[in-house]
Amino acid sequence: MLEIRTLTKRFGDTPSTAPVFENLDFVLNTGEYCALMGESGAGKSTLLNIIAGLEPTTSGTITLEGQALDANIDDAVTLFRREKLGFIFQAFHLLPYLNVFENIALPLRLNRWTEEKISARVTEMLASVGLGDKRASLPRELSGGEMQRVAIARALAHRPRLLLADEPTGNLDPDTALQVLELLRSEIRRNNTTAIIVTHSEIAARTADRAVMLTRAGLKPRLFS
Ligand SMILES: Nc1ncnc2c1ncn2[C@@H]1O[C@H](COP(=O)(O)OP(=O)(O)O)[C@@H](O)[C@H]1O
Ligand SMILES: [Mg+2]
Repeated sequence: MLEIRTLTKRFGDTPSTAPVFENLDFVLNTGEYCALMGESGAGKSTLLNIIAGLEPTTSGTITLEGQALDANIDDAVTLFRREKLGFIFQAFHLLPYLNVFENIALPLRLNRWTEEKISARVTEMLASVGLGDKRASLPRELSGGEMQRVAIARALAHRPRLLLADEPTGNLDPDTALQVLELLRSEIRRNNTTAIIVTHSEIAARTADRAVMLTRAGLKPRLFS
């Protein structure tokens, strides 16, 4: 379970600057797949970055399966985050000098898996994202959809408990976007991974268990008729 309590984020130190959001409360059950929507500038990326520990909070708490998870706490949670979190970015963020295999192996190396386990797991992930024949390719030799499939495999290889995806299909054409979302959904279902996907697409959001909208008034359920 992911639990966010009275979370406030303000950039800069002065209390006079308007917060990006204030006193957010949000609970996501284990295995729940949630779409996060909201206008550009609403704070969606900021929220994901805070959950991922890439950005400090101003106040409030975040816990994943009972363990505190924000950047303010530091060292003790770094290992926990590395083990429990997966992140997918809009711009893929693959490492350009590493081939597909090594990009997917990265989180496993950080988590000190053995070479034998890494080889087996990366091969398995390559097959499940349909890129078995691309293991030796470099990112620049791939299409956008293929790069995002590599990013999905990398984000999920270490079986994280929480997947955060920031507009993962924002740079893809609509057909490829749908395929990538389908793949993402089946992969997180398989491991009962809790997930938050930022998307502007109502079609994408409808495939989630739940959709929420980040506005100046806070996080509200986004209902579809
Ligand atoms: N590093 C930063 N320093 C100052 N302001 C920032 C920073 N990052 C984001 N912001 C501001 O925070 C607000 C939310 O941004 P962001 O989280 O990127 O929104 P979204 O992802 O919903 O489009 C915006 O007003 C943006 O300008
Ligand atoms: Mg954003």
